[in-house]
Amino acid sequence: MPESVIVTGANRGIGLELARQLAGRGDRVVGTARRPQKADALRALGVRVEKLDVAEPASVAAFAKALDGVPVDVVIHNAGIGEEGPDFASLPVEDLERSLQVNTLGAARVTQALLPNLRLGRRRLIAALSSGLASLERNRDGGWIAYRVSKAALNMLVRTMAAELRPDGFTCVLIDPGWVRTDMGGRDAPTTPEQSVGNMLATLDGLRLKDSGRFLTARGRDAAW
Ligand SMILES: NC(=O)c1ccc[n+]([C@@H]2O[C@H](COP(=O)([O-])OP(=O)(O)OC[C@H]3O[C@@H](n4cnc5c(N)ncnc54)[C@H](OP(=O)(O)O)[C@@H]3O)[C@@H](O)[C@H]2O)c1
Repeated sequence: MPESVIVTGANRGIGLELARQLAGRGDRVVGTARRPQKADALRALGVRVEKLDVAEPASVAAFAKALDGVPVDVVIHNAGIGEEGPDFASLPVEDLERSLQVNTLGAARVTQALLPNLRLGRRRLIAALSSGLASLERNRDGGWIAYRVSKAALNMLVRTMAAELRPDGFTCVLIDPGWVRTDMGGRDAPTTPEQSVGNMLATLDGLRLKDSGRFLTARGRDAAW
């Protein structure tokens, strides 16, 4: 049955491909962009496009208002920023702050704002794009500090949401798309957005309440915390 799906940061990269594949199979997609007037590729898909900057509380409030009363089955927190950045010794703390604002607090605010919509929907699935770089146990090399910190915090956020929202039938997961050829992933990435998104959607389709709280690879295996 077609579902109503929200994809944040859907104007390029993995988010655009998520919107393309979801729309292509008949789901009702709302794709968000910070600048909808410039989101030509997203608009060309024929999906509903809404303005959203996840780091701006007023923008999140306006987005929620635009969707007032609309049932939503699935929210995919895809919007994110990430770059290698300087070593810790010269890291501006503002870089940490910005990454947390977008990657962590963005997902928190958008989830809170959309809980009423998710309660109106059937699936009650929340998926957040995390990263292998979020792993505490696999981090031996350093680098990407702001990104790692913000995605590790996102992992804890979603893991906690999963526990608290389980009685209400919500499935909340983290999913690592792999190293994907986008503006963020760069040209050397081995995986195309098409491949990654194909794998992720197959994984998300198969999730049940018992899977809530998992950190998954795109192919649905357990990722290292
Ligand atoms: N590519 C990889 O190898 C890889 C690996 C692991 C995890 N991921 C994760 O996968 C997700 C998508 O990555 P990607 O490679 O597709 O990145 P991308 O090509 O850089 O695209 C990022 C998207 O996020 C949006 N965004 C950034 N800041 C935002 C904000 N404040 N509010 C709303 N939207 C914002 C961007 O919008 P603008 O165009 O307006 O900037 C863009 O649509 C991210 O969460 C990323 O961390 C990617």
